[in-house]
Amino acid sequence: MCDYTSYIDKATEQFRQLLIEQLARQDKMEAGESAKDFGKMEKITVGVCGGDGIGPIIVKEAERLLRFLLADEIASGKVEIRQIEGLTIENRLALGKAIPDDTLAAIKACDVLLKGPTTTPKGGSMESANVALRRELDLYANVRPVSVPEKNIDWIFYRENTEGEYVLGSRGIEVPDKLAMDFKVTTKSGTRRIARAAFEYAKNNGKTNVAIVTKANIMKKTDGNFTAICHEVAAEYPGIEAEDWYIDIMTANLVNEAIRDRFQVFVLPNLYGDIITDEAAQIQGGVGTAGSANIGDRYAMFEAIHGSAPRMIEEGIGEYANPSSIFKAVEMMLRHIAMPVQADRLAKAMEICNETEKKVVVTGNRDGATCARFADYVMETVQKL
Ligand code: IPM
Ligand code: MG
Repeated sequence: MCDYTSYIDKATEQFRQLLIEQLARQDKMEAGESAKDFGKMEKITVGVCGGDGIGPIIVKEAERLLRFLLADEIASGKVEIRQIEGLTIENRLALGKAIPDDTLAAIKACDVLLKGPTTTPKGGSMESANVALRRELDLYANVRPVSVPEKNIDWIFYRENTEGEYVLGSRGIEVPDKLAMDFKVTTKSGTRRIARAAFEYAKNNGKTNVAIVTKANIMKKTDGNFTAICHEVAAEYPGIEAEDWYIDIMTANLVNEAIRDRFQVFVLPNLYGDIITDEAAQIQGGVGTAGSANIGDRYAMFEAIHGSAPRMIEEGIGEYANPSSIFKAVEMMLRHIAMPVQADRLAKAMEICNETEKKVVVTGNRDGATCARFADYVMETVQKL
């Protein structure tokens, strides 16, 4: 038998620290913040950040699109677009920081952020920039809509975005060569606010059903509480049915044509939400097609649902990346900053370009159009509306 005493002592102290921090986070959330009202703001600052891999390529086109759609607002000074530098894997590794300090300060000086995908190193202790940003800006609701009109699919996922498996994902415990343990955290306030976001969306958009998706039969404390707290919130929305589902069968349901079109709104813990939204995006036509909004009370970040696709860069086909997902994120951002007319124009143009007319098709390879050509096509289409 080995003597593990020193490991156990160290891990116990680490766990104590984690508990203190997480309780402080819970209490801070309970104190609450009120949400910004973009409709009443005189000036809105949009940060734009390329990220890694195909990120700078798709974000360049998204920014062009944004400048085109908001030409009047930019000219009048109502909207300012700012470049955010330094959120690259090279810079982050060199500084040993998930988000360099000056980059974070620049982001915090903006109201909303449009961000390209960032590369996350596997293993090691460097945290994902995405996860760090979601935490630093307290972006608790990851909202991912998926729609396939011809199959009657109209889903929206409310993925909890600041806790669960992610919040301590880089701070697990390891006894080298013997054992490893990670932690999952569910707080009362953290769950209440995501549940409220999902039920508010349902109420405001005429939806009658919210699926609460967990694995509460196994993760009894964290997912058990998540489900119970969601039901407490659901009780305040009498016209909306709250249904419990387990993530495994829900994963199957999404590909079951007999029942999938009955689902409307989903609320779920972080990791399950991560996984199932890729599945849902694939059903819609690929992860390149779905947008993702990360919403908090003070800040919001909009991004593509997919990663930085380093392989496309290695193969020299980055220019052929599909910008649809980040364009969808632009649409979600426009809605969030109270510019629904511009958002609707973009949504209509995207529907024409990707579904009805399809004059320029991006395949993600040399046989398709470039990202820039597709962006031109979308803007030409907006102009004709
Ligand atoms: C997502 C991504 C991220 C996540 C990665 C890049 C950290 O997969 O936004 O879904 O796991 O949340
Ligand atoms: Mg994901």
